[in-house]
Amino acid sequence: MTDHGSGEGSSSVLVAAVECLTDTVPTAVDARPFLAGGAGRAILEAGRLTLTVPAVGAVAQVVEAPEVVVVYEIPPIERARFAGFQRVLRASGVACLGGGDARAWHAATDKGAMVARFRRAGVAHMETLTLHAPDAATALAAFTHLGGDVWARPVIGAGGADVFHVCTPGQLENARHHYAATGQGWLLSRDAGNIDRGGLRHQLRVVVLGEEVLRVCEHVQHDPDQPCNESLGAVSSVLRPGRLPPHLARLAVDATRALGLPFGGVDLVAEHGGVVFEVNVHPVLDVPGGLHGVAVPFVKAHYRPVPFPPAAAAGSGGPVN
Ligand SMILES: Nc1ncnc2c1ncn2[C@@H]1O[C@H](COP(=O)(O)OP(=O)(O)O)[C@@H](O)[C@H]1O
Ligand SMILES: [Mg+2]
Repeated sequence: MTDHGSGEGSSSVLVAAVECLTDTVPTAVDARPFLAGGAGRAILEAGRLTLTVPAVGAVAQVVEAPEVVVVYEIPPIERARFAGFQRVLRASGVACLGGGDARAWHAATDKGAMVARFRRAGVAHMETLTLHAPDAATALAAFTHLGGDVWARPVIGAGGADVFHVCTPGQLENARHHYAATGQGWLLSRDAGNIDRGGLRHQLRVVVLGEEVLRVCEHVQHDPDQPCNESLGAVSSVLRPGRLPPHLARLAVDATRALGLPFGGVDLVAEHGGVVFEVNVHPVLDVPGGLHGVAVPFVKAHYRPVPFPPAAAAGSGGPVN
């Protein structure tokens, strides 16, 4: 089940992974009708789940008693409207590897909630303040408190959209007006100083499943004022997971666990001993090595869930910056 309006390409990689593992073609269900107010119906009767999508034509799509539901590629901005469906999915007991956990998704999607979880669990991140429609003086006080070299991010965002490197009060005012005009809450974080010897911004994307690191890649951004997102020009190269220093592997696993997710794509940097920017609920799978390196183990874990210690035991041990 994915948002069929998404152009990310993860859905076809998941279909290939299911075929690879089970030799059967999965039923591809569009998640959009299952958002609040949509025409999709998820009915749980006598412990049996039935999903129905009324068709535009004559025949409805009906999925009866699925053994497994793989949920992916739901845009961050839509996730709150997916929570009702997730409650039914969770109650059904159908294997979905965290796909029915609206609380964990919220913790990862609302970056204010995410930072609060990181703080509680001791997951290292740059000092961050959350702002909701602040006046100029409040924004300036936060900017000054954080040292005057900060990054502004929307509370709910993706792909580096509406992310600004802010180094002057004028840039801060521009950012403030932008978030006010677009009705977004935002975060200010101290700059992580993730500049390599050549003067380029760089960071890692670490995909984890339970305690295991599945994939690591480095993102390098030539413009030091742009986020290290590929959609904004960062260049990505795949590294062998074994090359990731153990303390950064630990940090990625702990960050994911702190949000209650069994799986996630962690944006982090090695500077300051390792700090996390965010954990993506559904890292893009249409990437080099994405099928066998990530999608196959991810789908496999639906059939045999990974051992996953409770969030209460989390903690990177490192300082919270
Ligand atoms: N404190 C920071 N220091 C340096 N870069 C940052 C900081 N905060 C955010 N960024 C950059 O902005 C990117 C986007 O922020 P992120 O939380 O990953 O949101 P998105 O969901 O848009 O990818 C980060 O991956 C990083 O490249
Ligand atoms: Mg990111």
